[in-house]
Amino acid sequence: MISLRKATIKELPIIQSLAKEIWPATFGQILSKTQLEYMLDMMYSLASLKKQLSELNHVFIIVSEAGKDIGYLSYELNVKNESITKIHKIYLHPSTQGKGYGKELIAYAKKIAIENKQRALTLNVNKYNKAYNFYLKQGFVLVKNEDIDIGQGFLMEDAVLSLSLA
Ligand SMILES: CC(C)(COP(=O)(O)OP(=O)(O)OC[C@H]1O[C@@H](n2cnc3c(N)ncnc32)[C@H](O)[C@@H]1OP(=O)(O)O)[C@@H](O)C(=O)NCCC(=O)NCCS
Repeated sequence: MISLRKATIKELPIIQSLAKEIWPATFGQILSKTQLEYMLDMMYSLASLKKQLSELNHVFIIVSEAGKDIGYLSYELNVKNESITKIHKIYLHPSTQGKGYGKELIAYAKKIAIENKQRALTLNVNKYNKAYNFYLKQGFVLVKNEDIDIGQGFLMEDAVLSLSLA
């Protein structure tokens, strides 16, 4: 069983340290070590996390199991002023994957989105990440593929997925 709590600014280091454990397991075979470290710094430095929370309206949820923090979710309502919620991050510690928790997190995001009169959930996933199949199983569909230039010669090779709530 998991419990979810909204992260405060003071709890952002928890998310940072979980990312440092989960990212190598998730992307170690997909990204070079330098790209992985570059992206971790870009998305999970405390300055970047603080900006996401306080300026960009990302809501951070910490997931715990038996009192231990095991993952996180972040989402943004009304992305680009549309009635769409973007899931920015959904990460569970490898030791807790495959236990139905990811499905619970999608159900939670869906509930919040519906309460806020959103018409869809959207997210980006690396094309080569196995999570892609997890999302398809949850009913997401491919909108488009997009390569995003993130500087230093690095690209994010993403698929944009969407789940209609209408
Ligand atoms: C992706 C992730 C959130 C999924 O959560 P999870 O708890 O492992 O998945 P669940 O146990 O809830 O699986 C739900 C269903 O999806 C299926 N599923 C899970 N991973 C799958 C995969 N890689 N391929 C196909 N189906 C998959 C399960 O079999 C299950 O099916 P069922 O409902 O018929 O039993 C989790 O594995 C994770 O954190 N992965 C690493 C980080 C990551 O890649 N995050 C996404 C970044 S965009």
